[in-house]
Amino acid sequence: MKPSKSLLVIDDDKGFCASVRDFFRDREFTTVTVQSGREGLDWCTANRAEVILLDQKLPDCEGAQLCAPLLAKCGEAKIIFITAYPSLDHAVQALRRGAHDYLSKPMELMELQLAVDRAFRTAQLERVEQLQQLHTHRESRHSIMIGESGGLLGIARLVELAAATRAPVLITGETGTGKNVVAKAIHYRGPDPSTPFVDANCGALPENLIESELFGHERGAFTGAHAVHKGLFEMADGGTLFLDEIGEIPLHLQAKLLGILDHGTLRRLGGETGARIDVRVVAATNMDLEKAVEEKKFREDLYYRLSVLRLHLPPLRERTGDIEELSRYLMKDIAPDQELILPDKELHTLCAYPWPGNVRELKNILERAIILRTGGTIYPSRLLEPRAPAAGPGATAPLACSPSLPILPLDDMERLHIVKALAAFDHNHTRTAEALGIARSTLLRKLDQHCLKPGDSK
Ligand SMILES: Nc1ncnc2c1ncn2[C@@H]1O[C@H](COP(=O)(O)OP(=O)(O)OP(=O)(O)O)[C@@H](O)[C@H]1O
Ligand SMILES: [Mg+2]
Repeated sequence: MKPSKSLLVIDDDKGFCASVRDFFRDREFTTVTVQSGREGLDWCTANRAEVILLDQKLPDCEGAQLCAPLLAKCGEAKIIFITAYPSLDHAVQALRRGAHDYLSKPMELMELQLAVDRAFRTAQLERVEQLQQLHTHRESRHSIMIGESGGLLGIARLVELAAATRAPVLITGETGTGKNVVAKAIHYRGPDPSTPFVDANCGALPENLIESELFGHERGAFTGAHAVHKGLFEMADGGTLFLDEIGEIPLHLQAKLLGILDHGTLRRLGGETGARIDVRVVAATNMDLEKAVEEKKFREDLYYRLSVLRLHLPPLRERTGDIEELSRYLMKDIAPDQELILPDKELHTLCAYPWPGNVRELKNILERAIILRTGGTIYPSRLLEPRAPAAGPGATAPLACSPSLPILPLDDMERLHIVKALAAFDHNHTRTAEALGIARSTLLRKLDQHCLKPGDSK
């Protein structure tokens, strides 16, 4: 499939264009090259560029002059200005006219890659910020938590309490129990739902970028940091920062996070002074944080600072009373225009199932049952995986207790178990992660760690 994002290169140096195209081949964006300012403007009239590499010397104009007309057509584009001259004048001019960053020719391809990746990321974050404003209203409706009068009654009370304060909240619970749903509910039921809700998944942020993504950086903070970069903390100023998978945040950044929570000030990477910041932090994890504290992988002081309010979401198998209401709600959510029937017998089977992937698994099963139905009645129980009672806490997976298996190092055991799970779920990462009771991002990291490079992920 053709990527939907584009990098536009406006440069009359055909050799440079070819090497950029070649270098960025197989990336998640398309690289388009044009040789003149006119062609660049024409392209932006009919298409949308996320990032533009703009050369200073073009046959029909000066690159710096092109910044404003390009931005008039592609308002959200991030322009990286390229100057072949040692003088900074052109770059300064371009930055004044709205360019996002600049590079000088000749440049290392890695330097170019860093600048392009950062520009795409900024464009994406800005879009997220705008979308967040636009969708505040819709999101408020999505902060519906089914089970508030049943299995989540106690949680619902805590959500109301948390929504009324700015104190940090720690949400724990197995994968798929609804931690994201609860985090949103806390924000959108608060006094000002129009303030930003920024979702930062610490497990998904690349390790080398996590610090600047969270805390931002100043110009010149590190090689390639040509422009000031606003971090997710700043984007959440006045609202809520949801630190998902908080257990994945590296130890050296935990102290910095603690400092922000304690002092309410943020210092960007490479910055000299801190600025006041008003962010309510909601953190979530499906990791055993207490154990991580014991093992010195998570700072004890940060753990206590984050868990001023603590919400633990019970697994679905411990609140089977919610399954009927959840199923009806999810069925309507998946197929709003259909009048679907879920027979009582089906419901009983669903209630007896251990749901290792919790509500997410229930949703997936219902989705598949709706797609596969022939009439108006759905039979989700036929799609349930036949399982050993591996789901309950403390239960032992069949592989681990097989007497014929020699005692293997834990690491090898984990690798074997992952390989087995991948095969069982046809290499579908989402379902494999669910069955293993870990986040998808954790699974991807483990695949990397065990040199089980993802094949065709689904
Ligand atoms: N109480 C609920 N009411 C309605 N929908 C729910 C509820 N709990 C979970 N869901 C739905 O189940 C799915 C999984 O929920 P969510 O992403 O919040 O889980 P999670 O605990 O954050 O999982 P993970 O640990 O894997 O990140 C989502 O589609 C969510 O909308
Ligand atoms: Mg989550």
